Amino acid sequence: MFQNNLLAKGRAQTSFSDMAAARQSDNPDSQFYPSAEEFFPANSHLALTFDDITLATLYSEILPRDTQLGTTLAEGLHLNIPVISSDMDTVTEARMAIAMALNGGLGLIHYNMPERQQLSEVSRVKNHVHGLIQEPIKVTPDQSIGDVLELIEQKKFGFSTFPVVDKKGRLVGLLSGHVVKPRYAKKKVSEALTPRAQVHTIKKRELGKDPIARADKFFTEHIGIHKLLVVDDDDHLQGLITMSDVERITQERNAQFKPARDAHFHLICGAAVSATRNAFGELDRERILNHVGALVERGVDVVAVSTAHGHSKGVGDTVKVLRDAFPQLPIIAGNVTSAAGAQYLAECGANAVKVGQGPGSICTTRIVAGVGIPQMTALYICSRAAAKKKVAILADGGITKSGDIVKALTLSHAVICGGIFAGCNEAPGEVVEISGKFYKQYRGMGSFAAMKAGSAARYGHLSNPTQKVAPEGVEALKEACGSVDRVLAQLIGGIQSGMGYLGAANLLQLREKARYIRVSPAGMREAAPHDVVELKTGN
Ligand code: XMP
Repeated sequence: MFQNNLLAKGRAQTSFSDMAAARQSDNPDSQFYPSAEEFFPANSHLALTFDDITLATLYSEILPRDTQLGTTLAEGLHLNIPVISSDMDTVTEARMAIAMALNGGLGLIHYNMPERQQLSEVSRVKNHVHGLIQEPIKVTPDQSIGDVLELIEQKKFGFSTFPVVDKKGRLVGLLSGHVVKPRYAKKKVSEALTPRAQVHTIKKRELGKDPIARADKFFTEHIGIHKLLVVDDDDHLQGLITMSDVERITQERNAQFKPARDAHFHLICGAAVSATRNAFGELDRERILNHVGALVERGVDVVAVSTAHGHSKGVGDTVKVLRDAFPQLPIIAGNVTSAAGAQYLAECGANAVKVGQGPGSICTTRIVAGVGIPQMTALYICSRAAAKKKVAILADGGITKSGDIVKALTLSHAVICGGIFAGCNEAPGEVVEISGKFYKQYRGMGSFAAMKAGSAARYGHLSNPTQKVAPEGVEALKEACGSVDRVLAQLIGGIQSGMGYLGAANLLQLREKARYIRVSPAGMREAAPHDVVELKTGN
């Protein structure tokens, strides 16, 4: 009887697996292209990164241009595109953060600068009025037109109209381009300017919530006027709005991805902080709280406790201190590559966890310390722990192309990129010319130069590293690559294309639908242009 039961059970099992096999032979996709839940555990003996895998195409009714890229990282922290610029001293200061937010993303201002300067970088982003040139080039009444011509020549300005201010920064008049001519070189600016009474101005507070619409109305009502000067109540010059900027921005408003703004219509901005220690090696709670308090006063939208080893007491304690003091403040913390690490930071109070140890283009952590996990495996492991804790995952480092972003977004809520943006106009630092090519400096925050400039704490070293400290990053160059707008347009196009192939209308669907397969080295070679003489690169 017992045996009969077993036989019957065996027959039932056989017929069940036969049916499953039959189903698989009808549709081998599920066998070859499994979901993350099946694929990553089946490859648990091997750490995988972006190029080790490819995503399978799925039935789609979704056109790339109709895909939605919005992502929520914490309550009150929503991005319109899932892209963040790294908190690195050769990537994100105010200019980069403004460009990122205007495109719908987020910039994390680095902390390799005096705390006071970080506060003013955040203020610059929060006070940015799109279309308002906040620090226009000014001239003074005692200069000659010759001086102004020299300035234009020296700085290669493409404009020749300048506001004129006195020593206290109060508006005196406008020097119009049609008098900035060599024939008037000897004349004083005071003789040639359009006097204050005839200059069109608006008070900064009158610009309201939508300065572009306000300025647009002004230019329509004042035929032939192309510049509007912005002043405060005491007539100090506060900025300049040009008609051409307003027209460009009005056109851009029809763009698919809106700027990322807070509830008061200011651009969003993040700032990185470190787990600062005092002279006794203890966490300097007071200093951290004072600094983050000041950042919050300036309107910062998120702070990132940013270190190389996030699964550590110092980082956890910093997150706890901040969570207690600022219950509503979105907190990013990292970096980790294990489920235990992600869970720990979530339990300490982080809303989003940065994942990545050693994937970065300037990183040498894996070489120097022998530690770190290739990014797709790290993302899978951390994302499963994060999902249980209901926190977001940020894929930090190693991204070199839009396809990597699509793969990363199958397991994360946004990506953090350094190298991709380091060559942009908006990154800190000057362009240098080498053998006719243009470059910008890009360095790891764990490189010796960056640690000397202040980032040593991020790598668990004293703030004044000696020669004995082993750097975990290199100093490098990136080819200059134009504006962030241009780079992001390419990346977004790629992300949308990937989502179209997977039939994913939004990022949640991308995470749910993704199916994976390993790629052989020959498969990887096949993926890039081959056996042709390339005339133009893909980017
Ligand atoms: P990508 O690949 O975008 O990587 O250039 C940027 C990320 O790399 C991390 N980072 C470092 N990692 N040593 C490291 O091991 C370093 O010196 C270093 N500096 C930055 C960081 O997470 C950044 O977002």
